[in-house]
Amino acid sequence: MVLLSCSLIGASRGHETRRSLLLPILNKGPEIFDVTKYGAVADDKKDNVVAFRAAWGAACKNSTTQAKVLIPEGTYRIAQTLFAGPCSSPKPITIEIMGTIKANTDPSEYASPEWFAFENIDGLVLTGKGVFDGQGPAMWPFNDCRTVKQTCSPLPSSLKFYKVNNSIVTGITSLNSMQFHLHVHGCNNVSLFDLNITAPGNSPNTDGIHVSSSDSIKIFSNVIGTGDDCISIGHSSTNLAVHNITCGPGHGISIGSLGKRPEEGSVDGVTVTNCTFVNTTNGARIKTWIGTVAAEVRNVTYEGLIMYGVQNPIVIDQSYGSRVARAPSSSVWKISDVHFRKIKGTTISSIAVSLECSTRNPCEGVEVADVDLAYAGRTLINTTFLTACSNAKAIFGGILNPPPC
Ligand SMILES: *[C@@H]1O[C@H](CO)[C@@H](O)[C@H](O)[C@H]1NC(C)=O
Ligand SMILES: *[C@@H]1O[C@H](CO)[C@@H](O)[C@H](O)[C@H]1NC(C)=O
Ligand SMILES: *[C@@H]1O[C@H](CO)[C@@H](O)[C@H](O)[C@H]1NC(C)=O
Ligand SMILES: *[C@@H]1O[C@H](CO)[C@@H](O)[C@H](O)[C@H]1NC(C)=O
Ligand SMILES: *[C@@H]1O[C@H](CO)[C@@H](O)[C@H](O)[C@H]1NC(C)=O
Ligand SMILES: *[C@@H]1O[C@H](CO)[C@@H](O)[C@H](O)[C@H]1NC(C)=O
Ligand SMILES: *[C@@H]1O[C@H](CO)[C@@H](O)[C@H](O)[C@H]1NC(C)=O
Ligand SMILES: *[C@@H]1O[C@H](CO)[C@@H](O)[C@H](O)[C@H]1NC(C)=O
Ligand SMILES: *[C@@H]1O[C@H](CO)[C@@H](O)[C@H](O)[C@H]1NC(C)=O
Repeated sequence: MVLLSCSLIGASRGHETRRSLLLPILNKGPEIFDVTKYGAVADDKKDNVVAFRAAWGAACKNSTTQAKVLIPEGTYRIAQTLFAGPCSSPKPITIEIMGTIKANTDPSEYASPEWFAFENIDGLVLTGKGVFDGQGPAMWPFNDCRTVKQTCSPLPSSLKFYKVNNSIVTGITSLNSMQFHLHVHGCNNVSLFDLNITAPGNSPNTDGIHVSSSDSIKIFSNVIGTGDDCISIGHSSTNLAVHNITCGPGHGISIGSLGKRPEEGSVDGVTVTNCTFVNTTNGARIKTWIGTVAAEVRNVTYEGLIMYGVQNPIVIDQSYGSRVARAPSSSVWKISDVHFRKIKGTTISSIAVSLECSTRNPCEGVEVADVDLAYAGRTLINTTFLTACSNAKAIFGGILNPPPC
C-alpha cells in the first residue's frame, strides 16, 4: 500500500513537486494485490473464494493507485465467485492469472449459472498465461436432461462478463468449461484476443464465446476447439467484429439461435473475417426459431473463410428448433443484407450452401460470391453437390462451387 503524506508533498511546493514524487511510483506499474497475501493457498484443495474476493475488494474498492490482482503460479480451487465493480481505483484494473484456477464440481453449489462473474466494471484487463479449468468432465453428466431430470438446471459458464465496458480479455486459457466458456452479456467495447479455448468435440453446450445484448465486441486471434459453437452471437447484439479465429472441433461461428424467447431483440452489424474451420459441423451459420415477436438479423458479412472437412459450410436456417430437418419456416424473424464472400476449402456435405429462409419473411440482399468449396465426402448416390434455397432471393457472383440454386 502506498501512502503519500500531505506534509511531505507540501502545499507550498506545488504541482511540480507532487508530480515528481508520484512519477517514480507510477513508473513502477500498478500496485499488486497477490491473492496469496490474502490467504489463498495453491494446494488444489482449499476453497480460495474468501481470499480471492478480499484481494479483489482491496484492489477495486480500496486502492487509490492503479491496481493489479495477481494469481501466481500454482493450482487454486475456487467456488462460485463474483468480482463486482464499480471500482474506485484508477482505470484500468488488471487481473493477472499465472496459475490454474479450478472449479468446484458440486452442481448444488452454484446459485446461478456462472462460475466466475465480473460485473459492473469499466476498464478491466483480464490477462496472463493461466488457465480457468471448469472441470467439465465431472459436470457434463448433469447436463443431460433426459437422465438427470430433477437437477437439470443450466450448468454454469466459466467466465461471465456482465456490464463490463471498455475492457480487454487476453492470453488466458479456458479449459473444459461446464457450459459456455466465456459469456459476454450487457457489455460494451470489450476485446477478447489471444485466447485458447479448449474442450472435447463431444462436450455438451460448451460454446466458446457467447455474446448477447452487447455492443462493439471484438473477438480475434483465438484458437477455439470445443463441443458447441466456437462463437455464438445471441440476441440484441450490435457491431461485432470477429477475425482470425481457428475453430475446430466445434459447431462453427453462429449468429443465433434467435427468437426462442419473445424478449429477444435484433442483431445488427456483424463481420466475421479471416477465420479457419477444421472438421466443424458448421461454418458460417445464421439460425432463427419460428418465434413469436418480430425482429431482424441485418448487415452481416462472412468473408475470407477457409473450411477443411466442414459438414455445413454456409447455413441460414430459419426453422431452428423444429423437429423436421429443413422444415419450411414461417419465422417472424427477417434476415437481410447478409454477405458470404471468399469462402473456400472442402466440405463433407452434398448441400454445402443451404439458405432456408422464412415463407413469411423471405431473406433480402443475401449475397453469395466467390464461394469455392470442393466436395470431399463419401461418393454421392442419387444426388448432386448443390446449393439449397427457399425464400432466399440470393444474389450470386464470382466463382461458385457448388453451383447456385
Ligand atoms: C484500505 O486501505 C488502507 C490504506 O491503504 C489500509 O490501511 C486498509 O487496511 C485497507 N483496507 C482493506 C480492507 O484492504
Ligand atoms: C456499461 O455499459 C452499460 C450499457 O451502456 C451500462 O448499463 C453500465 O452501467 C456500464 N457499466 C459501467 C460499470 O460503466
Ligand atoms: C474501448 O476500450 C479500450 C480498452 O479499454 C479503450 O482503450 C478504448 O478507448 C475504448 N474505446 C472507446 C470508443 O471508448
Ligand atoms: C490450449 O490449452 C490446452 C490445455 O491447457 C493445451 O493443451 C493446448 O496446447 C493449448 N493450445 C494452444 C494453441 O495454446
Ligand atoms: C492470428 O491468431 C494466431 C493465434 O492466436 C496468432 O498466432 C497470429 O499472430 C494471428 N495473426 C494475425 C495476423 O493477427
Ligand atoms: C454494417 O455494420 C458495420 C459494422 O459491423 C458498420 O460499420 C456499418 O456502418 C453497417 N452498415 C449499415 C448500412 O448499417
Ligand atoms: C484478412 O486477410 C486479408 C488478406 O490476407 C487482409 O488483407 C485483411 O486485412 C485481413 N482482415 C482482417 C480483419 O484481419
Ligand atoms: C479432420 O478429419 C479428418 C478426417 O476424419 C482427419 O483425418 C483429420 O485428422 C482431422 N483433423 C483434425 C485437425 O482433427
Ligand atoms: C437411387 O435411386 C434408385 C432409382 O430411383 C433407387 O433404386 C436406389 O435405391 C437409390 N439409392 C439410394 C442409395 O437411395
